[in-house]
Amino acid sequence: MRHEQFISDYVVYDDEKELDSQDAILLQKAHEAVSSSYAPYSHFHVGAAVRLANGVIISGCNIENAAYPSGLCAERVTLFSAQAQYPDVAVEAIAVTAHSDEKPLDEPVAPCGACRQVMAEVEQRYHCRLHILCQGETGPVMVMDGIESLMPFIFTSLTQK
Ligand code: THU
Repeated sequence: MRHEQFISDYVVYDDEKELDSQDAILLQKAHEAVSSSYAPYSHFHVGAAVRLANGVIISGCNIENAAYPSGLCAERVTLFSAQAQYPDVAVEAIAVTAHSDEKPLDEPVAPCGACRQVMAEVEQRYHCRLHILCQGETGPVMVMDGIESLMPFIFTSLTQK
């Protein structure tokens, strides 16, 4: 028997002004997308933006539904939309941010497990590593390179290369 550890590697920018200009723009787009969120049940508004290898930025937000599971998170809305519009262009980066009607969000908002699984598939599909930026409404920005930093032991298809 042996004890092993999983190390999650990420960078924290205490001031978003330290981000490079491309990432700063992406994060700004995610913040703007929050205002399109439809979240009458949770009052938790999430915005996301992805940058494609051709420089195009696609943004999206969470959309809820009275039949709760029929709603979808901002990350998946955005990643699915990007892949639907540009199926042949790799996804390079995703930024995620949120606003709560109930409390200030000054810590990074991390994607849920289902969205992490979708990010893993994006990496597998495009043979890329996702650059992932997370922020609350304000505060530090957490940056990761590769979904492995957010989710160990990812399930990937046994057949897809
Ligand atoms: N939500 C997201 O959009 N992304 C996540 O990664 C976690 C949660 C949404 C789903 C729901 O509309 C609201 O936030 C509260 O869970």
